[in-house]
Amino acid sequence: MDAVRMHAASPESTAIVDAVLDYSRRRMLAADVPLDKPQTEAELNRLVGATITDAGLGAQRALSVFEHILAPACLTTSHPLYLSFIPTAPTMAAIAFDLVVSASGLYGGSWLEGAGAVHAENEVLAFLAGEFGLPDTAGGVFVQGGTIGNLSALVAAREAAKARLVAQGKELPARWKIVCSAEAHSSNKSAARVMDADVVLVPAGDDGMLRADAVREALDTHGDEICAVVVTAGSTNFGIVDDIEAIAALKDEYDFWLHVDGAYGLTAMLAPAARSRFRGVERADSVIVDPHKWLFAPFDCCALIYREPDQGRRAHTQHAEYLDTLTDAEEFSPSDYSIQLTRRPRGLPMWFSLATYGVDAYREAIGATIALTERIAAEISRRPELRLVRDPQLSVVVFERDGWERADYDRWSAELLDSQRAFVVPSSHAGRPNTRFAILNPLTTFEDLTGILDTMK
Ligand SMILES: Cc1ncc(COP(=O)(O)O)c(C=O)c1O
Repeated sequence: MDAVRMHAASPESTAIVDAVLDYSRRRMLAADVPLDKPQTEAELNRLVGATITDAGLGAQRALSVFEHILAPACLTTSHPLYLSFIPTAPTMAAIAFDLVVSASGLYGGSWLEGAGAVHAENEVLAFLAGEFGLPDTAGGVFVQGGTIGNLSALVAAREAAKARLVAQGKELPARWKIVCSAEAHSSNKSAARVMDADVVLVPAGDDGMLRADAVREALDTHGDEICAVVVTAGSTNFGIVDDIEAIAALKDEYDFWLHVDGAYGLTAMLAPAARSRFRGVERADSVIVDPHKWLFAPFDCCALIYREPDQGRRAHTQHAEYLDTLTDAEEFSPSDYSIQLTRRPRGLPMWFSLATYGVDAYREAIGATIALTERIAAEISRRPELRLVRDPQLSVVVFERDGWERADYDRWSAELLDSQRAFVVPSSHAGRPNTRFAILNPLTTFEDLTGILDTMK
């Protein structure tokens, strides 16, 4: 067997690349990409059989198994009628460029190895920092997702709190505390577990917003044990934005690290109509936003931005003899700013898309989904059998159907997926079952949504 067969440019390699590009091209440009649905493991075992063999199946057969059996058993999360959890909706340019990132042997961890890619990623980070009102000196790194972004930011916050207490000659607390609202994303609580820190869960108002009074109480009670206060700029369940302005103003009286978890919602700052909800973000010490959510980039991509990037660097630079060339260098190396070392330059698809279409196209697309959410919320309020659980602020709308128990939502949701009409799962609030639309695909229409509401009569 020829040891270079799998790597060399050859007629066989050409055929493999052509087949994969042809499939990708057809899939990307299809006007009617299916929603698809999961299969049981037993069914997939039966249909697929053994694909890992000593001699290999060949690209044609392997691709055929993927196209005809495996891919249809995966939901198309970028489908305009995938309305559950937080969907994704990458632009054509971003999807296409993701192929380039894979094709080019790019490494995004250090300036030495990836200067061009890192430069482009940094331009996107600087653009986002500017939108969020952070200073020109702000910077960071694209990491895998919001969970890693929140963890990396909170570790940097703890290191900064340690340094501050040591500088003040104070003792370090036995355990660190992270303040957030009960409606904050589970990844913040998971970050606290990983850090062996405690979470101080501060109650949000009935409208879901965390307010300054509650945070002040936590700051008064826990003082120097607190290493970060997390505010949510767009909660996952409801798309509610905390009172960031008033909470940020507490920085005038207390010394704390303000982290803005805007994984889903901070994107809305790009839409002029929604911008005012986010006053105070400009005072953040760190923020995250996930381009793989509402900034139209493919999975998986979170922008982590520090007000003072050196705080991230101090917390995260890895030291090892074989890395000396990198750690001794003056240049900006993205791996210094999060808990990961090896990294794909995952910000490049967004860079290419932003460079291609321009910022105005983004503002318009984001604004359009917010407007559609308002329109469908008004329609829900108009229908006697339906009730909004809360007024939407961004692009998530949560509502109940009169008289329905959880089993009714389950049956209805399964039917929607079975008939390939939509993917809308049940949710709940305060013990009551409900359902929600998370709308962030500009191809979703009002008629699509009213069609779904009609099935709830
Ligand atoms: C507000 C918020 N923070 C963090 C996350 C976690 O992001 P990821 O799933 O990319 O790790 C999510 C995910 O939905 C989120 O909505």
